[in-house]
Amino acid sequence: MDKGVFANETVTLTERYSLQPIARQNADACFASCQDPDIHRWLPLPQPYTRAFAEEWCATGAEEFRSSGQGIHYAICDGDTMVGCISFKNVRWREDVVEIGYWLDASARGRGLATGSVSALADVAFARGFERVELRIATGNELSIGVAERAGFVHEGVLRSAGIIHGGRVDLGMYSRVTADTAR
Ligand SMILES: CC(C)(COP(=O)(O)OP(=O)(O)OC[C@H]1O[C@@H](n2cnc3c(N)ncnc32)[C@H](O)[C@@H]1OP(=O)(O)O)[C@@H](O)C(=O)NCCC(=O)NCCS
Repeated sequence: MDKGVFANETVTLTERYSLQPIARQNADACFASCQDPDIHRWLPLPQPYTRAFAEEWCATGAEEFRSSGQGIHYAICDGDTMVGCISFKNVRWREDVVEIGYWLDASARGRGLATGSVSALADVAFARGFERVELRIATGNELSIGVAERAGFVHEGVLRSAGIIHGGRVDLGMYSRVTADTAR
């Protein structure tokens, strides 16, 4: 696939939930959610996670990321309220490979919303011509591993010392779904 950009479009999950491209209006929710130590435990977000950072990231950073072809950040929305974030990132356009990353606000966990969002975005990727969708998950992140498994991703192995979080270097489990999976 030639280098491209992701469309600035909403992905509908259900009547209640959707994935909406991150924009300025998400800054307050993003700032509030990203105070959660569980998010900082597994993702190398800025510390402290300031309101100024959230505003810049939502208002301009996310659109620059999308329009430059690096990927796209979506707000996981319950109605109009942002309750999480999910992204296409590390896009390898020429190889038709893309990675998904995600977090949920603490209040939105435990109801399958991350699993549903990851499944839906993988389907979006395949519909757009990608052949392989990857998740890289720290080997100790049991809740995220559960998401990968429920969303039908296959554990391929461990990338040793491949990740960096605030706690230091970590091994990353490599999970994938590929187009051939649906033909099995
Ligand atoms: C990783 C993270 C998004 C997982 O959130 P989660 O709420 O556990 O995942 P889901 O939204 O898929 O919900 C799954 C839970 O809901 C339950 N559930 C209820 N209804 C469900 C449904 N219809 N479908 C799937 N699961 C459902 C599942 O049984 C599971 O509960 P369990 O863990 O007690 O078995 C969250 O823990 C998080 O934001 N962590 C911090 C950031 C992070 O680690 N990001 C990932 C980096 S790789």
